[in-house]
Amino acid sequence: MRFTDIAMERQSCRNYNEDRPVEDEKIRAIIEAAQIAPSACNGQPYFFTVCKGEIAKQVAELTKGVGLNKFATQAPVMIVISEKPYVKSAAAGAKIKDNDYRSIDIGIAAAYITAEATTQGLSTCILGWFDDAKIRKLCDIDGKIRLVITVGYANEEDKLRQKKRKDLSELMKEIG
Ligand SMILES: Cc1cc2nc3c(=O)[nH]c(=O)nc-3n(C[C@H](O)[C@H](O)[C@H](O)COP(=O)(O)O)c2cc1C
Repeated sequence: MRFTDIAMERQSCRNYNEDRPVEDEKIRAIIEAAQIAPSACNGQPYFFTVCKGEIAKQVAELTKGVGLNKFATQAPVMIVISEKPYVKSAAAGAKIKDNDYRSIDIGIAAAYITAEATTQGLSTCILGWFDDAKIRKLCDIDGKIRLVITVGYANEEDKLRQKKRKDLSELMKEIG
């Protein structure tokens, strides 16, 4: 499969089959994909907490609010991505260059997770809206939570949508 084919197939799923569990080996493949993602100074400043069963439902509840993420409790698996400290060189680089490499690294890991999940026939949704403090307490996580990803099998009627994106002219320019 070409990468672009995977990217076209990946879409945010908000309609899961609650009765179809996710195989453990697929979750492992997803996390292994994140393990090989690039990161600043190869520091991998993140941690993945894979929540299943009742704990997944409790995490999902903590992603709901202002009408958002009502679907999250349908997903059998929730992956919570939290921050870990920078390695020294990445910390120095981030300070000197005033850049948030850790969030960038976590975004790349999330992209790998969602792409690998797609190849496994799974559907995902990256969630940026959640109760950080409560999920940390519930899951005994020491670093700030940056993203939560729902994972499961989409319901049959959840068809592939056409991608709505900015025109390339708004996203790039060529110089030289
Ligand atoms: C950092 C980030 C945070 C997001 N937060 C949420 C969220 O809390 N709830 C939700 O339903 N979708 C969320 N999304 C999904 C986006 O809405 C979605 O990726 C975008 O509309 C493009 O649609 P697609 O993923 O189906 O291609 C988030 C995506 C990203 C990358």
